[in-house]
This record gives sequence, C-alpha cells and structure tokens, in this order.
Amino acid sequence: MITAPCTSVQLALLAIVAFCGQEVLCISDVRLVQGTNINLAEATQFLRDYEDEASNVCFRVTSAQWAYSTNMTDLNKRRMMEEHSIKAKFEKVSWRKAVVFDWTRIPDATARRELRMLTTNTRASLPDEKYNEIYHLIAEMKDIYTNILICPYKPTGYSDQVYCDLVLEPDVKRIMAFSRNSLELTHIWKEWHDKVGPQMRNRFMRYVELANQAARINGFLDAGEEMRYIYEDSDFENELAESFQKLQPLYKHLLTFVRKKLLQRYGPNVIRPDGPLPAHVLGNLWAQDWSNIADIVMPYQEYKNMDVTSEMLHQGFTSLRIFQMAEEFYTSIGLKPMPPEFWRYSMLEKPGGRKVQCTASAWDFCNKIDFRNGANPGFHEGVANAITLSVFNPIHMKRVGLFHNNTEIFESNINFLMLMALKKVAYAPFAYLVDQWRYDIFENGVGKMNSIWWDLRLRLQGIVPPVPRLETHFDAASKRHIPADIPYIRYYVALLLEFQIHDAMCEAAGHDGPLHTCDIYRSREAGRVLIDILKVGKARHWKDIIRMLTKGKSDRISADAMINYFEPLLLWLQGQNRGEKNNRMDNI
Ligand SMILES: *[C@@H]1O[C@H](CO)[C@@H](O)[C@H](O)[C@H]1NC(C)=O
Ligand SMILES: *[C@@H]1O[C@H](CO)[C@@H](O)[C@H](O)[C@H]1NC(C)=O
Repeated sequence: MITAPCTSVQLALLAIVAFCGQEVLCISDVRLVQGTNINLAEATQFLRDYEDEASNVCFRVTSAQWAYSTNMTDLNKRRMMEEHSIKAKFEKVSWRKAVVFDWTRIPDATARRELRMLTTNTRASLPDEKYNEIYHLIAEMKDIYTNILICPYKPTGYSDQVYCDLVLEPDVKRIMAFSRNSLELTHIWKEWHDKVGPQMRNRFMRYVELANQAARINGFLDAGEEMRYIYEDSDFENELAESFQKLQPLYKHLLTFVRKKLLQRYGPNVIRPDGPLPAHVLGNLWAQDWSNIADIVMPYQEYKNMDVTSEMLHQGFTSLRIFQMAEEFYTSIGLKPMPPEFWRYSMLEKPGGRKVQCTASAWDFCNKIDFRNGANPGFHEGVANAITLSVFNPIHMKRVGLFHNNTEIFESNINFLMLMALKKVAYAPFAYLVDQWRYDIFENGVGKMNSIWWDLRLRLQGIVPPVPRLETHFDAASKRHIPADIPYIRYYVALLLEFQIHDAMCEAAGHDGPLHTCDIYRSREAGRVLIDILKVGKARHWKDIIRMLTKGKSDRISADAMINYFEPLLLWLQGQNRGEKNNRMDNI
C-alpha cells in the first residue's frame, strides 16, 4: 500500500479531508504538537529501541494479567495494577520521544507509518495531570461495572427477605437467556440499566472531554475520528454504511418473523404486532444475540436442533480432547500445531480452590515468536469466526461423528440457518450502532446521550426499552465496552469479514452447493488462503488482504458473502412474512 510517497499520509489523517479536501500539505496546520527532527537514522534507532522495550513492557503486563485472571487474589490484582501504571508511564515517555520527529517528512514509509501510529490512539499527549485523570476515570468505570449487584425479581405478596446479590455473569445473563416471564425480564433489565448508568454518567462526561482534548492535540477533530484512524481509510465509514444498508432486508425479515413468534408467546400487551421489539424478551441483556430464544422462534419445531453437547457427553469427551480436536482441525488444513508452551501453561479447566476468570480467551504474551497483529482490529475475530462457520454446521459434525442425521432435509437446514441468523444477522445492527453512538457523543457532546442511544437503537435495530428512559439514565453504559473505552466497530467489521473469509476459503476448497453447507476440514487449499492472511499480519493495508481474498475482484468490506450465506433463509422468510401487515420496525 505504502508505495507512493504521499499515500500513507493521505490515508492517515482523516482530518485533512474535512479541512482541505485532498491537500496533503496542510496536515501540519492541524497538528498541534509537531517536532522538527527528520533524521531517518535517529528515527529508526528510536523505533527499534521502542519496539524492544514495548514488547518487554507488554510481556510484563500480560503476565501480571494472566496471573490475576487465573488466580484472583488481592495481591495479584495489586501487582497487575502496578504493571498497568508502569505501562501508562512508558506510553507517556515514548510519546514524548516520538513527537520530537516530524513524521510527515521522514524519508521512509514504514518509519513514517509507525511514528504516526505511535502518536495517535493515545492519551499520552495530555498534560500529566489530565493523563492520570483519564486513566483513573476509565479504571473506576470498569470497577463500577464489574461490581454491580442487582436485586432478583420478587412477585408481590412474596414476603421473604430479598438479597440483592445477582452478578452479571452468570446470574443476569442466565435469567435474560432462560426466563420466559416478561415481568421478571423487565425487572432484571431495568435493575441492570438503572444501577450501571447513573453511577457512571458524570465520570463518562469528563472522560469524553479529556479524550477529545487528547485527540485534538494528536491532530484530530475529536476522539471518534481518532478511533477510526486505525483503519487508515478515508472511505471506511461509507463502506460500512453501504454494507449495513444491504443487510437491511434480511434483518427486517428476521425481525418480522421473530416478532410474530414472540407475539404468539407473550401476547399483544408485551409485543406490538407492527412495531419495534422490546429489548427484554430477546434472550440477551443487550438484545444483540437472539439465539437464546431459538426455542420460541424455531420454524420447524418437530425437527430438533442439532445437539452436539449431549452427543459429546455421551462419547465421554474431556476438555483436553475438545482442544485436541480443535488443533486437529487446523493441522488438517495445513497449519502448524500449537507449541508445547500452549499445552503446558493453558488453563483448560476451572481449577478448584481459587477464584479464576472463566471467560474463554486467547492471550498474546508479546514474545514476538508466535504472534502477529491482524491487518485491522476486525481481523482476529473475523478469522476465528470464519473457522467456526466450517466447524459449527451439521455437515462437519457428521464428518467428525457428532451428528448422525440426514443433513439434506430442507426443514433441518432452515432451522439451522435460523439459529445462525439469530446469532449473526441479529447482531449486525447492534455491532454497527455502538460506535455510531460513541462517535456522535465525541463529535456533538454529551447533552442528549441517552436519547441518542435509544434513537439509534430504534432506527437501526428496531428495539425499544421495556420501560421509559430519561436523560438521567445512561443506558449505553450497560455495555462494558463503553465505560471500558474499548472500540466496538471492530466487531461489525469482523462479522462481515467472517463471511468474506469463509466464502474465499470455500471457493479455494472447491465447495459446491450452498455456502452454509461448506466445511473446509482437510482442505490444504483453504488452509493456504488462511495462511496467506495470517502471514501478512499488519504489515500491509487490510484492503490488500481483501484484494488477495477476492482474487483482485474487490478491496471492500462487504455484506455480499453474508447475504449469500443466508439466501435460502431469506427466500423462506419472504414467503412466511408475505401476510404480515407491516414490515417496518421503527413504527412507534
Ligand atoms: C495465587 O496467588 C497467591 C498470591 O496472591 C499465591 O500465593 C498462590 O500460590 C497462587 N496460587 C496458585 C495456585 O498459583
Ligand atoms: C434427527 O432425526 C430424528 C429421527 O428422524 C428426529 O426426531 C430429529 O428431530 C432429527 N434431528 C435433527 C436435528 O434434525
């Protein structure tokens, strides 16, 4: 990508488009902090030292985090916090060294790009006092989020003492997934939102102010623009908006069908036959994944869902065997086996006698040996989920002896695609809107945070709150990524990439037939596609990688492969919804 001397610069600063069309020269007008050093040897030396030290710091922080997550004691927490603050200081010092250079005039594209990356997406440009402040605000908000306790639902007339000790994981999530009592669901939904948001609202408003200050010093209009910068593409937002439009018909048909089923289940006092869906009956606190209500929605109830769990229990699977099976999938397509350290140190089972963090996660210890970054923040998830599309399907389960039915039955295929749609299609608008909200707040201020949130959720997702909300609430904070300062648009990017990558691998594997029946198991050709993506890592622009994937046909993130995957379901839904009065979802 970075061949022409100015390309990286043009793509780099989205701000310049707003300020001065395609002119590159005026970048320095926007930047407030800009050094003068243009000595390439010095810049290269600095970057080399930085990388050594950064990977060392990263290794220490990650090890401390690991120690805490696998053994949650106060001491381990304190050690982890210490390492975090060492990292924060390191970031600050590095920023100071990096801004000595005038990166726009360093005569080497890679060094330019690295220096630019080092001086953006950081709050280190803030004066010490404010840097500490934002760092602590985020830590406090995360802490509040982690420690929320809510009260259980108690039908009136029930006189026992109520203990308000429900935690998000597993209590709240479990109730939202399995309860079918709309009063209980409303109660839990309201408890969670009422307890999280208001407590954080003032802190979050101050955080917005500080994040914007840092972004402006870094040369951006606001912190949202800085967050988008990592995609290095001025057309990024249009590309995403276009793909989102394309998904609309599929999403609306899904919503219409789900609404009909929910109406049958809960009746017209809970579900409006022609309006948006209330957020509390979709099996998930954020209404982002509807697969927990598959039992209500499943089109052909007489065909059971594929149930591999009971089959695995029946066959005596252990957790170790699950991991070995996963590894065998990767080696079957030509990837290398996991290193011995993986098997030695991983925590595959919940140990007794100590508190641990049991959410599945993959860790990078920054040792530079077996790790590379993705080409953009959506790639990690996109690649991993693309593999899941091959694994979690009846054809593959049959091949590995975990499913024994006929895989050709039409009704079973529709049931399977419905389950996938409840996970993936339902997720698309939510994944898209979280950062639309955040960008709006960074750009236009905190005046109407909550109404903007619900406006987006209605317009893009067709979702309304089950009880009235006010501006004193702060419902976006119900999602951890908001208080924790973690970008979200990557999940939307990953969702589309997942299907794009799956599509490309299936084509390489010579798959014939509907995309949802493709399994790349044992295909070295498909493995080659994956290896090519992983090898490039972050070294090239992600658009090059999509060009590679599509054999030069496109360089865009697109919804086409996802729509193609769900096409049999869309056709079926169109037939089912034909009689429905109203296909609109934002009818209030
Ligand atoms: C857990 O951490 C504590 C220090 O807080 C340590 O003494 C203990 O040995 C650790 N336990 C395990 C199983 O690693
Ligand atoms: C598998 O076949 C049995 C017997 O025909 C049927 O009852 C069951 O619903 C089928 N399961 C799936 C997932 O199609």
